[in-house]
Amino acid sequence: MDNQGFNNKNKHYQNRINKFLADFLAKNYAQSNRLIDAMSYSLLSGGKRIRPLLSYATAEALGIDNNRADYIAASVEMIHAYSLIHDDLPAMDDDDVRRGKATCHVKFDEATAILAGDALQAMAFEALSLAEVDSAVVVKLIRKLSYSCGAYGMAGGQSQDLESENKDLNKEQMDNIHLLKTGALIAASVEMVGLLYSQNKTKKTDRINKALASYAYNFGMAFQIIDDVLDVIGDEEMIGKPVGSDESNNKSTYPSLMGLQASQQAAIEHSQKAVDTLHYLPQDSSYLRYLANYLISRQS
Ligand code: IPE
Ligand code: IPE
Ligand code: MG
Ligand code: MG
Ligand code: MG
Repeated sequence: MDNQGFNNKNKHYQNRINKFLADFLAKNYAQSNRLIDAMSYSLLSGGKRIRPLLSYATAEALGIDNNRADYIAASVEMIHAYSLIHDDLPAMDDDDVRRGKATCHVKFDEATAILAGDALQAMAFEALSLAEVDSAVVVKLIRKLSYSCGAYGMAGGQSQDLESENKDLNKEQMDNIHLLKTGALIAASVEMVGLLYSQNKTKKTDRINKALASYAYNFGMAFQIIDDVLDVIGDEEMIGKPVGSDESNNKSTYPSLMGLQASQQAAIEHSQKAVDTLHYLPQDSSYLRYLANYLISRQS
């Protein structure tokens, strides 16, 4: 694969997940009302779809059919959409622009935005329950996703992120917030597909799962570090959200802790570590490798 192939693949899978999400809404939420309009507004409003791309890239590296990854990819993007709606609320980061458009609470109203987030979270588990895989595997998928977005995952990280405002954190505390608020859902995007691979516990599957976990951990860390860097030096039009949000909220971030250059260096190191164990995966892992490389040069 070359850069052109990588770009084409991204477009292909972005189209695939966009269509899947739109079809899911059209099929299961056809009767529109204000709440469903708000959910649909945020879920179908673009974005990089990086979590679904990770699910499909993992499926490629494990030789798993895309059809089996669709529901997983959709479920993580539904959780992600909910997390962004709540993250932007006045009680949290209080941001007015997301993906170049008015945030959900600005476009609709605060109560509707809170409920749209709640309902998108429920929708993610509904989607997983419909996945065409063995019911014992569905239970494992649901457990993984619930853990990754709950008190010991994304929601827990968001809580610590808010508590960190106006405080000086050390690197360990900072890393822990990144791991929870962003890393956990990214890990679920990868590891849930890993759960489809094999139900037999062997040395080989153990190595594969460890390789996926290491990739996802390092990807998640680098992803949030770069998000924090772009909050300082990004182009508002390109990132589609306000630059300087973290500073105005007095957040603890990598750039505030160690400066821009060291932050970028830390992201590069995580991205390199992410690809270190990809050779354990049974099929072509070049798409995962490209995603890890892209991650540090991304401008949106
Ligand atoms: C932004 O996520 C929030 C973080 C967890 C860093 P993305 O950068 O993936 O946002 P979209 O989905 O592309 O808009
Ligand atoms: C958000 O981190 C992580 C989430 C769980 C949504 P940020 O607050 O930095 O995300 P952005 O910059 O608003 O997208
Ligand atoms: Mg936030
Ligand atoms: Mg935010
Ligand atoms: Mg940010």
